[in-house]
Amino acid sequence: MLIEWEDSFKTGINTFDEQHLQLFGMIKKLDIGIKEKKSKEIIGEILDGLFDYTIMHFSAEEKVMIKHGFSGYEEHKKEHDELTRKVKNYLVDYHNNRFLLSADLLGFLSNWLKNHIGLMDKKYAPFFCGKGLE
Ligand SMILES: [Fe+2]
Ligand SMILES: [Fe+2]
Repeated sequence: MLIEWEDSFKTGINTFDEQHLQLFGMIKKLDIGIKEKKSKEIIGEILDGLFDYTIMHFSAEEKVMIKHGFSGYEEHKKEHDELTRKVKNYLVDYHNNRFLLSADLLGFLSNWLKNHIGLMDKKYAPFFCGKGLE
């Protein structure tokens, strides 16, 4: 089941909250695309877009963590890298017809996002507070 965006996911850093909201929106779009049985090309485009956006978001977070010397950086980056590797593999398989998109993947992505924001991203929130970030 997909997880809906909730205000409790907010980190208080507007840029990142907006990016998280976008990510939830993209997963939802993917879900709708699958349910409506859109073509492989269209689903592939949504999936590629989700991947690119995720990379952009992760690097934005990492940049700020490095800039401000956040002590949880290594641990956080590890989670980002693991997900990036997994999704990249899905993508390659999908484009090579080795993998069929399913509700499992969507559930996994949506759960991952919920857990990562709730546990990891929330940890940087108090640290970044008052550092002039929006
Ligand atoms: Fe993160
Ligand atoms: Fe994040």
